[in-house]
Parts: sequence; C-alpha cells; structure tokens
Amino acid sequence: MDRFSFLPMNKPTSLARWSRRGAIKRFDSSREVSEADGESILSAIELAPSAYGLQPYRVIEVRDPALRQAIHAASPSQKQLVEASRLLVFALVTDFGESHLDAHLARTAIARGTSPEALAAYRARVMDALLNRLDRASLLAWQARQAYIGLTAAMFQASQLEVDTCPMEAISLADIDRLLALPERNLSSLVGLAVGYRSVDDAYSKQPKVRLPRPEFLLEA
Ligand SMILES: Cc1cc2nc3c(=O)[nH]c(=O)nc-3n(C[C@H](O)[C@H](O)[C@H](O)COP(=O)(O)O)c2cc1C
Repeated sequence: MDRFSFLPMNKPTSLARWSRRGAIKRFDSSREVSEADGESILSAIELAPSAYGLQPYRVIEVRDPALRQAIHAASPSQKQLVEASRLLVFALVTDFGESHLDAHLARTAIARGTSPEALAAYRARVMDALLNRLDRASLLAWQARQAYIGLTAAMFQASQLEVDTCPMEAISLADIDRLLALPERNLSSLVGLAVGYRSVDDAYSKQPKVRLPRPEFLLEA
C-alpha cells in the first residue's frame, strides 16, 4: 500500500478520450471540475516520472479568483486563465541543487527502509551526471523537461476523466511570478494549465486536428 493506492481504478483509459482532447480556448465558466477529478489530475502529476525521481519543479493551483483576474489582465488574449474551472502553474525550483538531492535521498531511505549512507554511491553518480556537470542554464532546461512530463500527465489524466485542458506558454510569466510571489519561494513559472469543461462556443475544438503525416513523424531504424 502506498499513498496513491486509494485512487479509483474504475475508469479504464482510452485513446478515444485522448483524441477528444484539444487545447481548449473557451471554457464553460459555469461548470466546475469535481474535487475527485481535480485530485485525480494532481495525483497524475505527482505520479509522473522525473529523472532520478527528483521532481525539480512545483505545481501551484491558483484558487484565488482575484489573483486569476490579475494574471488574466496581464495576458488578456488567454481567456482560459479565468474561464476554466481551475488554473495550475508549473514552476521551476530556481535554487535546485545538493540540498534537494539530499532531501530526496532521505525520503527514499525512509520509503524503502534503507539508510542515506547506503545511497552514497548513487548520490555520487547523480552529482557527477547532473549537479556537477550542468551549468545553471542547462540545469533549468533539464528541470523544464521534467516539468513538461508532469504537464503531459495532467493533460492525459484529465482527458481520461473527460475534463478539458489548455496548456499555456503564451502568458506573461514575469507577471505570474510577481503576482504569486514566486521568487520569494525560489520558484519561476514555466507554463500554465487551464482545467475545466469546453464551452459550446469553443470553435477550436470543432476543427480537425493537424498532424504530420505518420511516415514523416514515426520513423523506423
Ligand atoms: C507547451 C505548450 C504551450 C502552449 N501554449 C498555448 C497557449 O499559450 N495558448 C493556447 O491557446 N494554446 C497553447 N498551446 C496549444 C497548442 O497550440 C496546441 O496544443 C496545438 O496547436 C495542437 O492542437 P491540439 O492540442 O488541439 O491537438 C500550447 C501547447 C503546448 C503543448
């Protein structure tokens, strides 16, 4: 038993639900995502893999309507910021380093009944491969790659629950940082995710999908 074993397993996944997903522009602001579905989407992010299991990003759920209005005012073309039932912000841990690795190893030791000392060789490997090797910009780029895996997990899980999403990079991250006081928490926003239900007025989701022809995209070697 672990802390995720409570999750309901009664909704099998389907490609049909994933293919119904679209980057929704207009949400129905009268429909709220249930607590259970919201919790399920957050759990999917927690369960997403990350390199070495380090989870070098955080997810902020912006619940305060006034804050959401202010975030929207800074990026007015993105109505999803206020129309969707929920708003998540994925943020990078800007001081990510040795102390985070040690905290992770301590958690691992507790969860798996071993000692941090027994993980010393592993610690040295992670230091060599990551923290001693990458400069700050490369480390942040590595962190962003991990965060996007979490973002994808959220979109996938939402689609399985027939909850709609819109990932958003074209938003003013500097304003989000300021409004959420993220620098004070050593965080820097990366991407937003609106979560809710599509409006009947959402024209975009009625358009056919545009994708590369499969032979150009899925190659064989
Ligand atoms: C990382 C990322 C950032 C995106 N940023 C925005 C955005 O700021 N605003 C928006 O309306 N759509 C945004 N999109 C949606 C894409 O334009 C959309 O996923 C793409 O056109 C494919 O369409 P589909 O998602 O409906 O299949 C973003 C998508 C991703 C994956």
